[in-house]
Amino acid sequence: MVGLIETLSELLSEHPLDLSCTRRTIDLGCGEGSFGKALFDDCPETFCGIDLSKRAIRLAARQWPDATWVLANADRVLPFADGTAGRLMSLFGRRPVTEIARVLCDDGQCMIAVPGEEDLIELRELVQTVGKRRSRWKAIVDEFADVGFKLQRQATWRHSVELDQPAITDALAMTYRAVRHSQHSRIQSVEQMNVTLHADLMVFQR
Ligand SMILES: C[S@@+](CC[C@H](N)C(=O)[O-])C[C@H]1O[C@@H](n2cnc3c(N)ncnc32)[C@H](O)[C@@H]1O
Repeated sequence: MVGLIETLSELLSEHPLDLSCTRRTIDLGCGEGSFGKALFDDCPETFCGIDLSKRAIRLAARQWPDATWVLANADRVLPFADGTAGRLMSLFGRRPVTEIARVLCDDGQCMIAVPGEEDLIELRELVQTVGKRRSRWKAIVDEFADVGFKLQRQATWRHSVELDQPAITDALAMTYRAVRHSQHSRIQSVEQMNVTLHADLMVFQR
């Protein structure tokens, strides 16, 4: 995703931790692990990605064999001792805040990315006729405040891409469980469209 890695990287460098490679960095819902490798390539020995999908973990391990990859459900107990992680990130993934608070060390940092209110808005308008704009980040700030974390920084990433018909179908399949017949024919008639990608990014610390 054009520019997202750079934006995440800037956020990390604005809040450097005095941890270098000595404490674990955990990526919850790491998927195929591309973000982890792009952001923490110099610290494979302390990087650990967790995902529920066997396929995602296999791909991640193939892509970056020097890091640690764990097939686990992040909604249950995280497989780490108390206070052993220096940094935890969840990019469009799970946010088990109580477990995050347990495994992060006192000066640890948590980086969260969630879809912004305009994410795929053109596609959502196409399917639903009226695309609902729903911002999630303030509710997430409250979730983290409940377990003792303060928002250090909030940022926005936005990008526009042109999707062709197969890419539109793929994006919808990832966004909606079921598309009704009438919606399906509306989508089939669109050959190409410009779509907004939008994410809200947050950095938390105690
Ligand atoms: C939207 S993807 C994000 C992947 C990656 N962070 C990225 O931004 O490219 C969400 C990921 O969370 C994983 N996931 C869903 N539920 C999970 C759970 N309970 N525990 C761990 N991973 C989970 C999915 O398998 C998927 O790889």
